[in-house]
Formats: sequence, structure tokens, C-alpha cells
Amino acid sequence: MLVRELMFLQLFRPGAAACVGDLFLPPPKIEPSRLYFFIWNIFDKGKMKLPGLIDPHVHLREPGAAHKEDWDTGTAAALAGGFTAVLTMPNTNPPIINAQSLAIAEQAASSKARCDYAHYLGAGPHNSHELAELAPRAAGLKMYLDNTYGPLRLDDMSLWMEHFARWPRGMPIVAHAESRTMAGGILLSALFDRPVHIAHVSLREEILLIRLAKEKGIKVTCEVAPHHLFLSTDDLPALGAGRGEVRPRLASPVDREALWANLEVIDCFATDHAPHTLEEKDSFNPPPGFPGLETALPLLLTAVSGGRLSLDDLVARMHINPRRIFSLPEQPETWVEVDPLAEWEIRAENMHTRCAWTPFDGWKVRGQVQRVVLRGREVYRLGENTDRGEIRASPGSGRNLRDIS
Ligand code: NCD
Ligand code: ZN
Ligand code: ZN
Repeated sequence: MLVRELMFLQLFRPGAAACVGDLFLPPPKIEPSRLYFFIWNIFDKGKMKLPGLIDPHVHLREPGAAHKEDWDTGTAAALAGGFTAVLTMPNTNPPIINAQSLAIAEQAASSKARCDYAHYLGAGPHNSHELAELAPRAAGLKMYLDNTYGPLRLDDMSLWMEHFARWPRGMPIVAHAESRTMAGGILLSALFDRPVHIAHVSLREEILLIRLAKEKGIKVTCEVAPHHLFLSTDDLPALGAGRGEVRPRLASPVDREALWANLEVIDCFATDHAPHTLEEKDSFNPPPGFPGLETALPLLLTAVSGGRLSLDDLVARMHINPRRIFSLPEQPETWVEVDPLAEWEIRAENMHTRCAWTPFDGWKVRGQVQRVVLRGREVYRLGENTDRGEIRASPGSGRNLRDIS
């Protein structure tokens, strides 16, 4: 056991030998994430506890396209991936842009969700007043400033300004804004002196600009999706054109490496779980998007194993920072048990997402979710000799995080 524990420490703290003492005798001035590491890590047959992960960027396709995913399958996939809370995007059909459509989404979620959640509202051309009133029920305001899947796109900057002026100051604004559009979104954040969170950053120029903006004190935060950390244009031939479609597009290996090199600028890892069926992906007009809920944690734990990332880095970006940025309540008695040493192969057939494919099919990873506990109840368990776990949470047991103060 001791050998295994020591191996574990070597794995999860690059240069860990020097830190072993810290784990048991924390120095008086300890960073919050180190403190977290100290409190949460237990050694029980090589298992490790993480807090319930929070994914601030998830597309469940209900209402409107339940054949791709619905609240039941999507939240099952979340639990299997170690996520106990998902913030869901408004580009559904109908899109979530007013009280009526929000009520439809709330109804679907309250009857079917197996993990906790909150709904984003979508900024449209005529709804800034109404959305401001609905804000307390929302995860945040989502602004689509570039072209992507779904009907929500705002081109006219006067509309951006209206939403920035009306949306309550204490509530998050998230922008799909690529390259120079992103620069425009950051300018608005500076002009209105209010936070903006940039979704799925993928380019070197973007992460460098966000670094500069942060250095100037602009209230910008950002997220990166695992597919932009682990895939690039080099993977497109193997994936095939349709399956490789995603927005932002897979970027060059130089862009991918720039994200890793600027890890400290990245506040969150968000999956941008965007399920479409294989039939759709392989069609003449393939929609952009990858599923990601069930592959994010294993991929990132593999990076921890390889020394690219520390466990503190991971927990900060998948729990601590999203909770702070989106003002989410604590989920008491909630955790994820992981075997950090388990080696296994990602296979679409073992996943719970309805879309039934993954761009990471066949990847060998290290680190596996064994069990998930949400508000004191076991909600997921991996069986013996299988890589497909059992979902134990019932549909409707998930809670709307905005109903919890
Ligand atoms: C997303 C989708 O399918 O809803 N697609 C994607 O390629 N990321 C939309 C989005 O997040 O921009
Ligand atoms: Zn987007
Ligand atoms: Zn998205």
C-alpha cells in the first residue's frame, strides 16, 4: 500500500517527493487549492476523492432535438464523467430566449435531470428587457457573437451594448466570440466594467489577448474545451471531415500548444458537450460539435499522470473556478471517486450520451471514475471488469441550482 501511495504522489504532484511533507504538515500559508488537495485526498486502495465537477458549457438538445440527447441521457453522461452540475446552453429548438421557452426547458429538466443544473438564457435582438427580469432563474446570459450551430447570433454591436447595459451586474455573461469578435467582447467588458466569460478559447492569439486583458485588470475569464487541448488539425484526416466539424474549429498544433503554455490564463475546463448523431455528422451538411462529458476527466487525468497538469490545476478549473465565476451553491456531501492509476480505453459503446460516438474513440487513458455521490446518494458506480458504469440517480432527482440559495 505504501508503495502505491508513493507512486500516487509521484504521479499527481510533479516533483512530489519534495511535497510529501506538505501533505501531512501543511505550511502555515497555504494556497486555497493546496489546502483543497490536503483536505480532499484520501488514500483508500489507491482511490482518490475529487469534489463534484461543474461543467459550465453543455448542450442538451431538449427541447427540439431529443434524438441527439435529452435531459435524461445528457445528465446520465454528466454523472458518468464525474460532473454533478451542468450549465446548459440556450441554442435549443425553440431557443431559450423568453419566459415561455425557459419554462419548457425548466419542465424538461425538473422531470428528467439526474444531476444538478442551471439554464442559460440566449441574447436575441429584442429580448434584453425580458431577460434581465428572468436573470435570477438563469445560469447566466449567453451571447453568440459568431456563427455556430443554432439560430442565435447577434451581429450588430448596438445589440451587444443593450444586453451589457441591462443584464444584472452580478450575473455572468458568457460569449461565443472568436478571434477579433472576442476582442470586441472584451472591449465591452472594459467599457461596461463588468465581467465577461469567453467560451471555448482555441487560438494562440485569443489566449494571448486574454492574458493581456487580465494583466490590465479587465474582468475577463475564459474556458478551454478538452478537444482543443488534445486535438488539432493534424487529427482531421483520421476523424474525417464531418466528424471533425466543431466551432471553434480544431486549430493548429501551435495553437493547441499555446493553450497548454498559458494554462494559468485558463480559468475553466468546459466540455462544450455538443452531441449530434453519427448519421448527421457523416451527412452532406454535418453540424459542428463533439460530445465531451464522458471523456473530459479521463483525458485530463491522463495529462495529470503525464505531468502536464497538476491535480490542483484540474480541480481549480473543474470545480473551484466555475463555482466562483457562476456563483453556484455548494453541493453538500457530493464527491467523485477516481482510480488515478486505472488504464482503460475510451469506447463509444460504453458511453451514456445518446449521440453514440466520440472523437476520442480508441484512446488509451489513465484515470477512471469509479463512483459518484451527489447530495449523499450514490448516483453512479462502475462495476467489476467493465468500463460501462451504472447510473443510479433517477430522472428528476437533479436540482435546479438557482432554486438553491
Ligand atoms: C455547438 C452546438 O452544437 O450546439 N457546436 C459546437 O461546434 N461547439 C454550438 C457552440 O457551442 O458554438
Ligand atoms: Zn459556442
Ligand atoms: Zn457550445
